[in-house]
Amino acid sequence: LLEPAGPGPLAGRTVVVSAGGTREPLDPVRYLGNRSSGRQGVAVARAALAAGATVRLVAAHLEVPVPGGVELSTASTAIELDAAVQRAAIGADALVMTAAVADFRPAEYVESKIKKSDDRADPVITLVRNPDILATLVSRRAELGDRGGLPGLIVGFAAETGDAEAGVLEHGAAKLARKGCELLVVNQVGGGLGFGVEVNSVTVLAADGAAPVTAAGTKDEVAQVLISMIASRLDADVH
Ligand code: CTP
Ligand code: CA
Repeated sequence: LLEPAGPGPLAGRTVVVSAGGTREPLDPVRYLGNRSSGRQGVAVARAALAAGATVRLVAAHLEVPVPGGVELSTASTAIELDAAVQRAAIGADALVMTAAVADFRPAEYVESKIKKSDDRADPVITLVRNPDILATLVSRRAELGDRGGLPGLIVGFAAETGDAEAGVLEHGAAKLARKGCELLVVNQVGGGLGFGVEVNSVTVLAADGAAPVTAAGTKDEVAQVLISMIASRLDADVH
């Protein structure tokens, strides 16, 4: 990445980025996880750094290196990530939630390794819902005076495939409305796009009705488009 010649479009701003995938433990040696590598989030963090921002990276199980120059905090489970993001978000200008947060976790954690004893029935894993970090922050921000110091610009990411009910963008628009955040980056997955690959195709939907912005290219290119949008929204004080 080229260093900006001037102070950079995000100079003086603080951007929080969550990245990676959570792991929800079953017993001391096993967990339920997901295939997020953290690449897109790390690319967003790098683009924000290059734009001059102070970057707080909240990382859950990255498969890629942490960029130098970020303020790093780490989390393993969704509940830990929730606490870490809430802490990092206070006083920040923007929050970008690229982390793949497990929607559910095992209802119980077994303190000792689960054994496959022959005399016992095959185990059934019961799941319970995890907190929705993004939706919780949006509603806390609305309830607290002075937004509780939370960012005026909250950006979600959604990987969608489209199904019999609706297309990728319809699912995205419904999710944006449900989450209440300002921007939702809708990432089309399946057919070779999305997890673990270098090239991405996204559409950024805005809650304020601004026209959708499409970006395709490497995760770095997508990150730069997103960081430009964040910078111009912060400059214009449009959230
Ligand atoms: N997210 C979150 N907390 C969760 C789940 C998701 O903060 N428990 C955030 C993700 O980091 C992402 C956005 O919400 O920025 C959308 O995630 P996604 O999984 O697409 O949304 P869900 O509401 O969980 O819907 P779905 O049923 O499609 O998984
Ligand atoms: Ca989900």
